[in-house]
Amino acid sequence: MTTRSFRIALLPGDGIGKEVLAVGKSLLEAIRTRRGLDLELVELDLGADRFLRDGTTFPEADQKFVRDECDAVLLGALGDPRVPDLNYARDILFGLRFGLELYCNVRPIICLADSLMPIKGKNASDCNMTVFRENTEGVYVGIGGNFKKGTPDEVAINEDLNTRKGVERVIRAAFEYAKLHGKKRVHMSDKSNAMQFAHGLWQRAFKEIAVEYPGIEAKHIYVDALCLQMVRTPEAYDVVVTNNLFGDIVTDLGAALQGGLGMASSANIRPADPRFTHVNARCTGVFEPVHGSAPDIAGKGLANPLATVLTIGMMMSHLGIEGEEAHLIELVKQAVAEGMTTRDIGGSKSTSEVGDWIVQRAK
Ligand code: NAD
Ligand code: IPM
Ligand code: MN
Repeated sequence: MTTRSFRIALLPGDGIGKEVLAVGKSLLEAIRTRRGLDLELVELDLGADRFLRDGTTFPEADQKFVRDECDAVLLGALGDPRVPDLNYARDILFGLRFGLELYCNVRPIICLADSLMPIKGKNASDCNMTVFRENTEGVYVGIGGNFKKGTPDEVAINEDLNTRKGVERVIRAAFEYAKLHGKKRVHMSDKSNAMQFAHGLWQRAFKEIAVEYPGIEAKHIYVDALCLQMVRTPEAYDVVVTNNLFGDIVTDLGAALQGGLGMASSANIRPADPRFTHVNARCTGVFEPVHGSAPDIAGKGLANPLATVLTIGMMMSHLGIEGEEAHLIELVKQAVAEGMTTRDIGGSKSTSEVGDWIVQRAK
C-alpha cells in the first residue's frame, strides 16, 4: 500500500488573512506530525503587498502550479485599502473559484455553543444548516461596463449570468449533500418574484431536480424572507441553495448566528460530475474562512483564528483525512467553553494565544 501524499498551497493574502494563516500553518504542521502525513505546505506570495511591489496579481505560473501540482489551497483573505479598486483581489479569488470551476461554495452555519447564539430563546442546537452558494456565475462574472463614466449621464451595468448547467449542478450538489448527511429539507432561495428570467430558471431547475430526491422535502423561500426567517426560526433550515450574490450575503448574516465572522468556515469545491465540469485539475478545493481581511483590526492580534481552524477541518474531510474535522470542532468547542477566545466572541486572548492553545492540543 502506498501512502497518499498531499501538497497544500497556503495563500495568506492580506490583513488578518496573514494572522489567521500563521495559525493555520502551525495547525497543519501539528496534524502532519501527529498523523505522520506526507503533507507538503507551499506558501504563495500573492496579495496586495506583491501587487504593490511588482504589479503581479495571479501569474499564469502560479495558476498552473495550484491547478496541476496542489491538492488544495488554504486561503486567508484578500483586500487591502491601499488598493481601492481591488482588481488584484478579484483576479486571485475569482481566478481560483472560476478557473478551477469550484462551483459549490459550501458554508456551514452551525452554532457550536449556546453562549455564541445571539437570538433570544434559541440555543446552539437551533442553528445547524449548510448553505450551498453557487460560485462561478451570477453577478460575479464581471460582464458589464460603464458608459459616460463620471458624467451625470453615466450608465453602469453588471449582468446577472445564470446558465442551466451552472444552476443545475449546484442544486444537485445540495441535494446530494442532504442525502449523504441525512438532512430532511433543501430550500432554494431566489428573487424570482422580481427577476423572472434568471430566477425563473432556478425555479424550473429546482422543481425538476427535486423529483429525483423523493425523501427530501424541497422548499422555496424568497431571499428577503430567508433573511427574516434565518433570524426568527433558524431551526427550520437544513440545506439552503442559492446564487452567488445571495449566498454571499446570507452567509454573513448566518455568521452572526454562529458568534460572528470569526467562527464561519467555508469550502470552495467541485463535486465530481462529468456531466457538469470540464476542468481536469489536481486541485479540487480552495478552503477559506468566510471573513475578509478586516483592515479595522489587522496587525493587532485581535483576529479570531477559529474560523480558520474549522476551515482546516473541512479541508481535512475533503482530502479524506478521517476524524480530523470532528476533532477540530471539539477543540473549538472546548476553547469557547474555557474562554480561550478573542475579543469578538467575548474573550481577551490574542490570535496567537488562541492559536497556540489549539495547536498544542492538535499535536
Ligand atoms: P471583513 O469580513 O473583513 O470584516 C467585517 C467585520 O468583521 C469587521 O469589523 C472585522 O473586524 C470583523 N471580523 C472579520 N473577521 C474577523 C475575525 N476573524 N476575528 C474578529 N473579527 C473579525 O469584511 P469587510 O470589512 O467588509 O471587508 C474587508 C476587506 O476584505 C475588503 O477588501 C473585502 O473585499 C475583503 N473580503 C475578502 C474576503 C475573502 O478574501 N474571501 C471575504 C470578505 C471580504
Ligand atoms: C466572500 C467575499 C468575496 C465574495 C468578495 C471579497 C469578493 O465577500 O468570499 O464572501 O463576495 O465572494
Ligand atoms: Mn462575503
